[in-house]
Amino acid sequence: MEEVYLSKTHSIMEGTTEDIKTGIDNQDFSGNYIENFKGKDAEEFFPGRYVSWEKNNNSFVIHGQGAAIEATVIHSDIIKFRFGNDGYFEDDFSYAIDPEFAPAPVEYKFEELKASFVIKTATLRCYINKENLTTKITNNEGTVIFQDEKGYHWQDHKFHGGTINICTKVLQKGEKFYGLGDKTGNLNLIGTKRELWGTDCYGYGNDTDPVYKNIPFYMGQHSHVGYGLFMDNTFRSFFDFGRERSNVCSFWAQGGEMRYYFIYGPKLVDVAKKYTMLTGTPKLPPKWALGYHQSKWSYYPESVVRKLGEEFRSRKIPCDVIHLDIDYMDGFRCFTWDKKKFPKPEKMIADMKKDGFKTVVIIDPGIKIDKGYKVYDQGRKGNHFCTRQDGALLKASVWPGACHFPDFTRKRTRKWWGTLFEGLVADGVDGVWNDMNEPATFEDGTFPNDVRFDYDGHPCSHRKAHNVYGSLMAQSTCEGQQKYLRNKRAFTITRSAYAGVQRYASVWTGDNSASWEQLKIANIQCQRLSASGVSFVGSDVGGFIGSPNGELYTRWIQMAVFHPFFRTHSSGDHGDKEPWVFDQKYLEIVKEFIELRYRLLPYIYSTFWQHSTTGIPMLRSLHMEAHVDPETFFREEEFMLGDHIIVCPVSEEGKDSRLMYLPKSHWYNYWTDKLEEGQREIKVATPLNQMPIFVRAGAVIPMQPTMQYVGEFKIQELTLNFYKPFVETISQLYEDAGDGLDYLDGDCSTKTFTSTPSGLNKWKIIQHIEGDFKTEYKKYQLRFHGLENKPGSIMIDGVERIQDLKTEEHVLTLKTETKFTEILIN
Ligand code: GLC
Repeated sequence: MEEVYLSKTHSIMEGTTEDIKTGIDNQDFSGNYIENFKGKDAEEFFPGRYVSWEKNNNSFVIHGQGAAIEATVIHSDIIKFRFGNDGYFEDDFSYAIDPEFAPAPVEYKFEELKASFVIKTATLRCYINKENLTTKITNNEGTVIFQDEKGYHWQDHKFHGGTINICTKVLQKGEKFYGLGDKTGNLNLIGTKRELWGTDCYGYGNDTDPVYKNIPFYMGQHSHVGYGLFMDNTFRSFFDFGRERSNVCSFWAQGGEMRYYFIYGPKLVDVAKKYTMLTGTPKLPPKWALGYHQSKWSYYPESVVRKLGEEFRSRKIPCDVIHLDIDYMDGFRCFTWDKKKFPKPEKMIADMKKDGFKTVVIIDPGIKIDKGYKVYDQGRKGNHFCTRQDGALLKASVWPGACHFPDFTRKRTRKWWGTLFEGLVADGVDGVWNDMNEPATFEDGTFPNDVRFDYDGHPCSHRKAHNVYGSLMAQSTCEGQQKYLRNKRAFTITRSAYAGVQRYASVWTGDNSASWEQLKIANIQCQRLSASGVSFVGSDVGGFIGSPNGELYTRWIQMAVFHPFFRTHSSGDHGDKEPWVFDQKYLEIVKEFIELRYRLLPYIYSTFWQHSTTGIPMLRSLHMEAHVDPETFFREEEFMLGDHIIVCPVSEEGKDSRLMYLPKSHWYNYWTDKLEEGQREIKVATPLNQMPIFVRAGAVIPMQPTMQYVGEFKIQELTLNFYKPFVETISQLYEDAGDGLDYLDGDCSTKTFTSTPSGLNKWKIIQHIEGDFKTEYKKYQLRFHGLENKPGSIMIDGVERIQDLKTEEHVLTLKTETKFTEILIN
């Protein structure tokens, strides 16, 4: 790396001096949030003019008169910025960044110009203006991607001390914004202001903000270029996408240090991928967790749970998981059983398991104040509970009445919490569902602001710990289960989350309601979460609150077949939501779609593996698939699951057709195999038993027989659906035991199929196998889609097999010993 001084001047951005609204936290100690008031009432401070600079490893620190800016090259496409008021930085500690994130060494140059400094990577130029330490980032082609308006500045926090740290950026012409976790409203966030302060928002709607999760990551796109911004700060924070001022995008946090990562795409899907690699990916879940889950608040007593299982099996509706909500506990005491309702839980769970059902139980953070209750006593003795500013234990009410709450920001407490799962795992419990971890309380909604936290050696108040509390609870729940599950895979679900939660848990979108609008909201929330690093997402199918009619429930099931986490849940107050509650005509379709989910499991599992190894989101909005196609910028209902399947849920009542947009490519209608050209809107028939599902030309979609639960029987035959290509298309099939940790030691295999058109009516498929995982099936059924007539020849590894092709279905059966590497169709 060389450092040079150039005399060339650079003009940097020009900002306006208009005031902006900033978020001043006027919370009193009871936790009430009063309002933000105008920034003009508070003095704003700026970094000022450059004084000196220094270099520490990959970081450049440029000291200004008022603050220092540190820029670190993490990757040629990722630059991290930190701002130190009065020239001092905080300890660089993060709960979001994956401790295993190990970027490769990166080449870059740092140059001092007359009016600025510039950091050059293989793809980016980052200018820091000497006059005021504002920044501007361009790509190598000179396109301005991210540019300060006022840039970084701060206000003193009059009420709590510390500072409110703000960054304002120029909102570029035609800029669109995506991401930001579980926010409702339009997929494109333009024109809105959003808040991150995890909230128990029962019955939320399209305008509710904040909601449950806190993921301070958004993506912007303009000039055909996409980038991401991740502000790693757990204080209450705000994002304004041109609402206060239409030419400004700003973000700010009510404390802590301004620390953000700029992530270059240029494709939006690459931004999401890089962000996800930075904050981590999940390990593979047990395959059963990708099956169908049935839940209600609550199934009890034991006889009801057993009956539920019997109903699924006798009706032959596939189901893998039954969830037990809070009523399984003894007086809502976590880690206990109500022995009246469940006299022998381990026996019930074992019996259910014999019938193929896994049991997931809910665990909340509130621990009932009750001397003699083991968990409570341990928590008190071990000093695991949160305290108020003067040292008294925090007391607040949730389901069991007055409770204390573990400080999950303390390593020792996370470890202790983990040990509590020993009993549940010994009882046979297979997964844990964490709820109320915003944290939620009945009195004030959440903890008072003075509550103290360890924050892993960085003592702080609730103001700083609130937004990360849920994630850390999920982490310790996941790690605790894993310890006792030994060679089985843990499964955790959480309602609240901070960036990086995906390393430990799946999420659901909380207490939604049974309405058509909510089906649309769930669709958007799941896409948005997936773009924000969290792919293992789902909603309460049918709506938690209220009763859907048969049609709404059916349409919701259809959509959720394509969501990684697939669970029906219900508040139980307004009737039941088991599939058979609905009329026969709906029940049959619901059953068919759950069966489709099971048939698609090899594809879905491979997509999960792809996410887990590369960070690519499992659900991809249209703008991720075709980021330069203006048609995709505002489309929000169509989404892709994995590389090759695009669906469009039916989100209105009584619709027997709907319009949808197919991005550039060729697509086969899943139901009819009819070929459609992409980059256009099409009208698709949507009789109740169909939703629009399209498969990319050239894709190989692996499918298994439907089954009542994962592992019900040994699969004899795997179907490989080959869709005729128009361009070279790559598909991957990942296989392992579906549970256990042996895959981490290489007991797995990946089959990569490259399909290429090789002339008129000619098509070539090459298979490349890595790993030698022994599959249980012995045969492949090769099913060819897109063949108009019987081909003249099908050569498999040089042997003519056309005589074996069943003409009507274009199906050919092959023993798996034939590890075919080449198929030539002519
Ligand atoms: C919360 C959860 C919901 C659960 C209920 C009772 O409202 O979001 O899913 O059923 O609490 O535990």
